[in-house]
Amino acid sequence: MKAIHRVRRQTGIEWHLGIEMKAKYIALTDALYRYLCECRTGALDPVLDSLREETEALGDVSRMQISREQGSFLTILSAAICARSAVEIGTFTGYSAICIARGLAPGGRLIAVDRSQEWTAVAKRYWTRAGIDNRIELRLGDAIPILRNLEPGLTFDFAFIDGDKTEYDAYYELILPRLRPNGLVAFDNMLWGGKLGAPLRDDPSGRAIDAMNRKLASDSRVETVLLPVADGIQLCRKRGAVGQAEW
Ligand SMILES: C[S@@+](CC[C@H](N)C(=O)[O-])C[C@H]1O[C@@H](n2cnc3c(N)ncnc32)[C@H](O)[C@@H]1O
Repeated sequence: MKAIHRVRRQTGIEWHLGIEMKAKYIALTDALYRYLCECRTGALDPVLDSLREETEALGDVSRMQISREQGSFLTILSAAICARSAVEIGTFTGYSAICIARGLAPGGRLIAVDRSQEWTAVAKRYWTRAGIDNRIELRLGDAIPILRNLEPGLTFDFAFIDGDKTEYDAYYELILPRLRPNGLVAFDNMLWGGKLGAPLRDDPSGRAIDAMNRKLASDSRVETVLLPVADGIQLCRKRGAVGQAEW
């Protein structure tokens, strides 16, 4: 019975991949991108705008900061699931942390993990300016040992993964057991600048992202969708809520 089910599923997947898929997306232009950034709640945000400006002054590294609309999306996600406990891997100058923390339920806490003292010093100043510093606990150091040594029994409603791309799988495997059913994990840069689909021989990060996207798509522990927001967000919901065992 199981074997038949597997064959049917495989056939279904092949059929889906085999058909010509009509393009159901819009290629953005600068004008359209400006428009979508404007049509958001809080499009003018003095604290976030000032943080973007200060981060841009750091030079090329500023590319690492998430985009404005990604920030809004993170706030909505954490608020929509009433997250009380969240974790972020890859904090940089603190933009995504502010956005996640703003969506947390009263009394909620975000553990923000980054190895850079220099960049997180900027983050801490802006968390104070945003009035959410009491909701964020910075853990400074390498993400994998920090995740391995989290307090026993600590669980998360929401996770944002934006650290070293070659370590995404390790972060995921360490976070998933602590994620509550129906909790969410969002991974950034999952379209990898549009380079996926071509050979990624000299690009270990690209290869890791590609492997992660493919692993998540067939991982029965989660339900996942790859969204073309900025450089791509892979959004995963942990299955197995009470009464939803097969979901
Ligand atoms: C893409 S940036 C994060 C951007 C941030 N989410 C934002 O909104 O601005 C990646 C960050 O991950 C940190 N990082 C990279 N590898 C790490 C590791 N193994 N452990 C801890 N932090 C790491 C870097 O120091 C950098 O600040």
